[in-house]
Amino acid sequence: MKKYFLTLCATAFLAQAFGQSNNTEKIFTIDADKIKTHIQSAMYGIFFEDINMSADGGVYAELVKNRSFEFKMPLMGWKELKQDGTDGSILVLNRGRDNPDNPRYIQVTSISSKGYGLSNEGFHGMGIKKDDRYNFSVLAKLSGANGLSLQVELVDSKGDIIGSAAVSPSSGEWKKYTASFIASETEPKASLRIFIKGTGSVDLDMISLFPQDTWKRRPGGLRADLVQKLADMKPGFLRFPGGCIVEGRELDTRYQWKRTIGDVANRRMIINRWNTEFAHRPAPDYYQSFGLGFLEYFELAEDIGASPLPIINCGMACQFNTCEVVPLNQLGPYVQDALDLIEFANGSVTTKWGKKRAELGHPKPFNLKMLGVGNEQWGDQYIERYKIFEKAIHAKYPQVRLVSSTGPSPDGDIFNHSNKILRGLKADILDEHYYSSPEWFFKNVTRYDNYDRKGPKIFAGEYAAQSVATVSPENKNNWKCALSEAAFMTGLERNADVVNMASYAPLFAHVEGWQWTPDLIWFDNLRSYGTPDYYVQQLYSLNKGTDVVPITLNKEIVTGQDDCFATAALDANTHELIIKIVNAGKQGQSADFVVNGIKAGAEGTLTLLQSDDLSAVNSLDNPFVISPKNNTVIFNNNHLKMALKPYSFNVIRVKMDKLP
Ligand code: AHR
Repeated sequence: MKKYFLTLCATAFLAQAFGQSNNTEKIFTIDADKIKTHIQSAMYGIFFEDINMSADGGVYAELVKNRSFEFKMPLMGWKELKQDGTDGSILVLNRGRDNPDNPRYIQVTSISSKGYGLSNEGFHGMGIKKDDRYNFSVLAKLSGANGLSLQVELVDSKGDIIGSAAVSPSSGEWKKYTASFIASETEPKASLRIFIKGTGSVDLDMISLFPQDTWKRRPGGLRADLVQKLADMKPGFLRFPGGCIVEGRELDTRYQWKRTIGDVANRRMIINRWNTEFAHRPAPDYYQSFGLGFLEYFELAEDIGASPLPIINCGMACQFNTCEVVPLNQLGPYVQDALDLIEFANGSVTTKWGKKRAELGHPKPFNLKMLGVGNEQWGDQYIERYKIFEKAIHAKYPQVRLVSSTGPSPDGDIFNHSNKILRGLKADILDEHYYSSPEWFFKNVTRYDNYDRKGPKIFAGEYAAQSVATVSPENKNNWKCALSEAAFMTGLERNADVVNMASYAPLFAHVEGWQWTPDLIWFDNLRSYGTPDYYVQQLYSLNKGTDVVPITLNKEIVTGQDDCFATAALDANTHELIIKIVNAGKQGQSADFVVNGIKAGAEGTLTLLQSDDLSAVNSLDNPFVISPKNNTVIFNNNHLKMALKPYSFNVIRVKMDKLP
């Protein structure tokens, strides 16, 4: 921690040191004794969608791809293995109605004892860590053979064994067999081999490999490093499971939460909506195992202290795809799914779905307060369906606040139509989405200044500045984008009486398996990094405060004058004043923050996110190019004079003697 005692002289010195300072001192006045509005504790949150391999191959730590052979091509991800000229066969069988949720399995027949088998490639390989323990499991059934065993080997990209174990199926009935081993090497691109030792046939299903070191060490759990990144944001809410996957490309492949709870072997796998020819990078192997299902989402929210915000299909498939809708007179089961979900989350253990939650290991309710009706829907078809959901849900659960959609854009006919009607219906919360240029974000910092203070609350549910207009590798998470979001978010916070929630989207992307750019957190099989946008989100979330107070420059709110954007808040919990200020200009600026009501000599912290290079990015190899740096700042009487660096986002926290 560096220490700055910033007097007038020091300011002049620092300003000069930056070389290009704009020498006119900006005097910002903070009326810390005038609370303007309260900030919701859930203000800054997370938007989770299984896009870009966020779930399978991402945060869900399963290493085996297509473990239940339910992909359209049942052996996708698998390869036959013949060791030392051995032979055998792999047959795909379908139990059909005997097991409609997981109909397929394989029968492997080995005709010589040397070792015939199969290998799994993982999700762009398997990320393995030296000295970590790995848990293998399989459902197996002997077909007449005895004395047969499965030799399980984890191999690195050169084919060298880095871990092994054996299991010996002993029954003619389906049974789960487990084994574990410690990996001898770290390897980002490992694969799994299974050899049949002995001759005969064995039926196999749910072939699985998990690290033991998952988030909270839950068996079959989530990738710890990725969840940690979420926990480090201290998000106010977790929106799940999307995104367009709520809708599906057609109704058949919509998200159905009841199919995502209970034994993973019975969670019916479906194609992912992002496995599509419309995606920038089609992923023919993109399926949803639902290993990360609704119980896990609720638990994740609970673990990281976020309010759960599930989004439910409202009888509409993705309007960018088939636009299929359920006839209004057949909407009953969809509405029932919503009601049952609320009972699943909040109901006592004596209710049908509360009991189910308890049976799944979580008797304590999840305290669901919000529910999204539909994802990014629009048009009269949406409004008709929304009204039916709203009536039924509020009749039974009047306290649950509903999130409704204003469509994919923040303006234009579609937006205006939905906005007008939903306001007329006195909707609780309107979800607005904007994927736009950094210039749009800078310009729209005043977007909410004139919103109706008595109307519905706003959820800025999906937003991200785009460095270029297309989904492509050139659409980067660069500093310019993040800086524009930081500036825009001063407007969200200043209008916290209207804007109740905000989340960047999408959240995660695998560097080898993405369909969408930009994204908040990137990862490969072993590593991950937060983008500059991640640090902006994190700084807002960690420094949100409880109440907005006015900050002005020449008596005006700070919305881009001389490239400055600012907001100020008090934190009633810590008795601190929090000032967030963006200097979006290429010149340093001399600033004087005048705080009414602060103790002379008060010492605070300055957290700085800065780069002189607007095109700067973080990466797996250089994850902290743009990342927060902390300094100490000291007030002289009620003044803090400091230099705002070029292209900087500054967060100042300082203790107040007393709060209003
Ligand atoms: O965030 C990516 C996609 O953008 C979401 O799935 C959808 O809601 C929006 O169109």
